[in-house]
Amino acid sequence: MKTAEQILMKESLEKDEIIYLLSTQDKAERNLLLETAGRIRKEYVGRNVYLRGLIELSNICRKNCLYCGIRKDNKKVERYTLDDRQVIDTVRQALDSGFGSIVLQSGERTDKNFTSRVARLVRQIKEISGGKLGITLSCGEQAPETYREWFEAGAHRYLLRVETSSEELYYKWHPNDRVHEYSNRLISLEALKKTGYQVGTGVMIGAPYQGIETLAEDLLLFKELDIDMIGMGPYIPHEDTPVFDPEEDLPSPAERLELTLRMIALLRIIMKDVNIAAATALDVLAPSGRVMALLAGANVFMPNLTPGENAKKYALYRDKPYFEGLVSSAMEKVDEKIEPAGLKIVYDKWGDSPHFTRRVVIN
Ligand code: 5AD
Ligand code: SF4
Repeated sequence: MKTAEQILMKESLEKDEIIYLLSTQDKAERNLLLETAGRIRKEYVGRNVYLRGLIELSNICRKNCLYCGIRKDNKKVERYTLDDRQVIDTVRQALDSGFGSIVLQSGERTDKNFTSRVARLVRQIKEISGGKLGITLSCGEQAPETYREWFEAGAHRYLLRVETSSEELYYKWHPNDRVHEYSNRLISLEALKKTGYQVGTGVMIGAPYQGIETLAEDLLLFKELDIDMIGMGPYIPHEDTPVFDPEEDLPSPAERLELTLRMIALLRIIMKDVNIAAATALDVLAPSGRVMALLAGANVFMPNLTPGENAKKYALYRDKPYFEGLVSSAMEKVDEKIEPAGLKIVYDKWGDSPHFTRRVVIN
């Protein structure tokens, strides 16, 4: 087997080499992995950290993902939907705080009331920001016509996590029925790309039954799908979900944090010019989890702007952080921590994925 140093000098990495770098217990090798990712990041996407303001439109969801706190059958969740005024107020706050881009995220609904409302909100956000705000949607699997309607309204990026590259594992994490079809995930990602979106996907890390080999395959899948943006976060157990099992042999929180950082670093090395988000779930595992992700190669930071009383109800996992207070002071704190590494938060920029720009120019 090659050493980390030899592997990291290669043009492209094989599965067993990725597995080696995900699992090496040698501190110097681990540090070399993160340093290499940091160098590649500066070379291919620069020093900038782009901002997205996250607005969680509604926690109503038609799906029953077995790990998720807001799954349809969790009767303990108080359901909410932001009204137009709440959305628009939050958008104005994002604009005033210097956000160049927002993400409108929601539990999955496919009814016409919902899909038309999202289109209308996108148009409204475009209008009130004078086209200044980039708009990303994250509203699950939809019909190709819906993706097109939202794109034509002005959304230009879409996030849909594939959750795992293993179909077998997918059905351990989801009911095996018509609403949860692995093939439809992949079909949806393809439809999004065809429509013209910058496409984002991602996986959970350290979740039940997963294993390192699947994580290596996840990274190779992102490459195969030629994805523009990736968000990967650690799995955080939620006690009101079917996969929650206190006896389950999960990687420890520290191991899940470490695995996520290595996955980010490896992805930066493998795909180089993609946008990588520092997932919110990291902050559950360490006070500066997201900052650690930025230092490991992520270049997108996504503060949650959902009005406080609702953000608490969008509890995908236990202890999900929500924000109370001044967004600007939270960002100053992040800036202070990333500055020694030569990174900085940039304001008022869309911060598109350079990978997308290249992908579109080439095709
Ligand atoms: N832990 C971590 N991430 C989760 N998600 C859902 N439930 C959990 C959990 N328990 C993630 C999924 C989903 C995204 C919106 O949140 O990856 O795609
Ligand atoms: Fe719904 Fe997303 Fe949770 Fe699945 S992960 S239940 S689609 S909110």
